[in-house]
Amino acid sequence: MQHIAIIMDGNGRWAKERGLPRAQGHRAGAESVREVMEACKELGVKYLTLYAFSSENWSRPEAEIKALMALLDRFLDEKGKELDKQNVRLQAIGQIDRLPKSTRDRLTKIQERTKNNDSMTLVLALSYGSREEITASARSIAEAALAGEITLDEITPELFSKHLYTSEIPDPDLLIRTSGEMRISNFLLWQISYSEIVIVKKMWPDFRQGDLFAAVEEYKTRHRRFGAL
Ligand code: FPP
Repeated sequence: MQHIAIIMDGNGRWAKERGLPRAQGHRAGAESVREVMEACKELGVKYLTLYAFSSENWSRPEAEIKALMALLDRFLDEKGKELDKQNVRLQAIGQIDRLPKSTRDRLTKIQERTKNNDSMTLVLALSYGSREEITASARSIAEAALAGEITLDEITPELFSKHLYTSEIPDPDLLIRTSGEMRISNFLLWQISYSEIVIVKKMWPDFRQGDLFAAVEEYKTRHRRFGAL
């Protein structure tokens, strides 16, 4: 098990159930992020990818977008040094140039500071959409072909993968989605071709270390069955 990817869903519903504003749900969700990172380190997982902000999330109310970006900035401020101390590398995938400058600057700084760390890589999917990513890959391959740098025969799945944001990241072994929804929501469509999917009923702010360990156990039982065939 090298790579776990998570669709962190249900912050809004978690808050609503408690009569709280949605931003409170996101704040509680940031706690789950901290816990899950610890759990993954403990398990020796090499890559953890979190769907923190989708391309579609830009159509949410301005105030909610602001609250999410502020949370992210705070997370980066608080975690920046700690990630480095824990030998964790930070990467970001998505249309990063659409993010506010304050967030981009923080990301650049921490990515630079942690680029040689090798215990684990935390990948934040920000302003991320899989169709946009695949389209951009197709476009850059077409450009290379038009420029005569590659022939059509050279366009293979391997080449295609190299043009995605995730070119340096192995495909996820396990995809987890919380809140019980059975959807992929434009997340890593290409990369999850062979991933095991575990859907957890709990809302993201209720997802704790034990829930991650349980999902990994579920993955292992499926994997063993596959190996026996
Ligand atoms: C989905 O819940 C969650 C998000 C859109 C954002 C996820 C962000 C965080 C967990 C916090 C910040 C992230 C980091 C990395 C510190 P939803 O709002 O779609 O919930 P709903 O479906 O119940 O409305």
